[in-house]
Amino acid sequence: MKTIAFFNNKGGVGKTSLVYHLAWMFADHGVNTIAIDLDPQANLTAMFLDEERLEELWPDDEHPDTVYGAIRPILRGIGDITQPEVQRITDNLGLIAGDLGLSRFEDKLSDAWPRCHNREESAFRVMTAFHRLIVDSVQDGTALVLIDVGPNLGAINRAALIASDQVVLPLAPDLFSLQGLKNLGPTLREWREIWTELTHKAPPDLSVPKGTMLPIGYVVMQHGMRDSRPVKAYQRWMDRIPATYREAVLDEPPGAALKVSNDPYSLASLRHYRSLMPMAMDANKPMFFLKSADGAIGAHQEAVRSCYQDFKILAQGIARHAGIAML
Ligand SMILES: Nc1ncnc2c1ncn2[C@@H]1O[C@H](COP(=O)(O)OP(=O)(O)OP(=O)(O)O)[C@@H](O)[C@H]1O
Ligand SMILES: [Mg+2]
Repeated sequence: MKTIAFFNNKGGVGKTSLVYHLAWMFADHGVNTIAIDLDPQANLTAMFLDEERLEELWPDDEHPDTVYGAIRPILRGIGDITQPEVQRITDNLGLIAGDLGLSRFEDKLSDAWPRCHNREESAFRVMTAFHRLIVDSVQDGTALVLIDVGPNLGAINRAALIASDQVVLPLAPDLFSLQGLKNLGPTLREWREIWTELTHKAPPDLSVPKGTMLPIGYVVMQHGMRDSRPVKAYQRWMDRIPATYREAVLDEPPGAALKVSNDPYSLASLRHYRSLMPMAMDANKPMFFLKSADGAIGAHQEAVRSCYQDFKILAQGIARHAGIAML
């Protein structure tokens, strides 16, 4: 089983939409997939589930079947994680539901990180909660876990990232995204280095993730571009992506003047799918499964087909990096 986080500290680049569509695409190609919503905004959960199911998941009191419910005993200091029920979306697609309450875990996670240096078992239980929650919840046969996180470099994301084997970086071709990479790259390396040291201090009987968080590449999300912006400005940021990715994320020299179009770290450039996205949200399904009954008529049908191809090629690229077979 491989766990892949989709991460960028720049908000609104399209991380959640990407995780949602990729999870469906992998499942459609026979990959037993679980998506886990570790962003306290819980947008991924809202994309997967209709309002009735959300109301059932998030009643006024306890939330046993969300990530928050699962870690609540740790938060209250009365025990270890419990196992949330995985929300079945299809036979081979499941969701571990998010929760706004998850934000209450931030302080506990901040406090646990330095305490791991003192070999404190309780601190390791807190730091590994997401990893253990994933391992406990997935059934045999789950090949892939996709993790959605919020747009920051906080303690929740650090814990989510140490539970990740690999990382995909969705980014927009603009100043903010490239600046974001400059913070994100060194932070990922620091988290990896410190966690590798800390794993030697962990209790031997606890399931502890390796914290590999290997960056496998980036996805350029072109929907973030404003139509009014001159093409030249957009092209300028596009052209800087390969070198910035190498320097900031991989800690390598910028390399020859590569373009995104021939950069092996470029996993895909995704277009703005315009009205398909709101249509998909209304229909509670991915854009590439929209039918005429959902409103995808006329030119939309061709757009749906090409959207399917875009996500299929991206999923195949990620599968190759992750060593996962797609049908
Ligand atoms: N390829 C696309 N085409 C059209 N619209 C898109 C595309 N990708 C994302 N969007 C839209 O952009 C907005 C932001 O997307 P999304 O919520 O996925 O971003 P995010 O990076 O997860 O945000 P946050 O940082 O808040 O978690 C949403 O309204 C979404 O519908
Ligand atoms: Mg999001």
